Amino acid sequence: MHTSVLLEESIRYLNLQEDSIIIDCTLGYGGHSSQILKKIPKGFLYAFDQDDQAIKNAKKRLEEAGFNFEIIKTNFKNIKEEMNKRKVKVNGILFDLGVSSPQLDEAERGFSFHKDAALDMRMNQNDQLKADEVVNNYSYEKLTKIFYRYGEEKYASSIAEAIVKYRENKRIVTTLELAEIIKNSVPEKYRKKGHPARKVFQAIRIEVNNELEVFETALKDALDLLKPKGRICVITFHSLEDRICKQIFNEVSKVPKELAKLPIIPEAYQPKFKVVANIVPCEEEILQNPRARSARLRVIEKM
Ligand SMILES: C[S@@+](CC[C@H](N)C(=O)[O-])C[C@H]1O[C@@H](n2cnc3c(N)ncnc32)[C@H](O)[C@@H]1O
Repeated sequence: MHTSVLLEESIRYLNLQEDSIIIDCTLGYGGHSSQILKKIPKGFLYAFDQDDQAIKNAKKRLEEAGFNFEIIKTNFKNIKEEMNKRKVKVNGILFDLGVSSPQLDEAERGFSFHKDAALDMRMNQNDQLKADEVVNNYSYEKLTKIFYRYGEEKYASSIAEAIVKYRENKRIVTTLELAEIIKNSVPEKYRKKGHPARKVFQAIRIEVNNELEVFETALKDALDLLKPKGRICVITFHSLEDRICKQIFNEVSKVPKELAKLPIIPEAYQPKFKVVANIVPCEEEILQNPRARSARLRVIEKM
């Protein structure tokens, strides 16, 4: 089961009315979407996900809450194209990024460094690139860059070196095999600060799913899909995603620095959006759901 993070807060900030048109970009197991549906009996929900298993489970859950929804099985990077086809603008858009608990729990998906499985990590099972390709075929330089950039891993180069050395004798086949190589390539005392494979697994997952680029494109496109007073709620789980969100929200909600001192800001440069919230989960939620520890919700509204 997946416990939705910042559920009450994100629903509240979406400011739902009974006829709201909403997009949930990350349907997952339908936790947010089913709550949204209950509040928009005369509205409509478009829910995106690229994971067949998630969609299968969420569909049943949504049908218990209402029938005014459409599930769109595609990467949310296609949000603009899909909504243009349907010719709709919306009152609210939600992104609840990352992987769901069931994706982590299903060993065969290869997301977890605790469970032995083939190196996969694809959110969309039809995609070509798997973790196996990254781990076994990327150069030392490329691996170092990915671990450093997407994992913010300070031992990026030692870990990449250990992987390349290991590959000289044998292909790396499983998640636990990779986790062990990582563990043995960092200093003893570093191993005590949480599992040493955590950041590297995050980095590989981001690379396999091209997560940062996809999110940046989709968030910019999402801004264009809002009706006036429409809102976007974004729940992120690490600083790289949050930085992208913060930068984009700042760009569209602030007067450019060069113009800020003018007595009158020309119409064309006046911000079209305002930031409404930037919050983290309360202590109680973190105690009940450790996955919420690194979460942050940012909300923006179209003026
Ligand atoms: C954290 S879960 C969402 C959980 C959901 N809000 C709930 O409460 O049940 C994130 C979901 O988004 C999906 N996802 C992540 N990136 C995606 C993308 N680029 N396009 C489509 N779906 C994506 C994942 O497959 C996963 O099912």
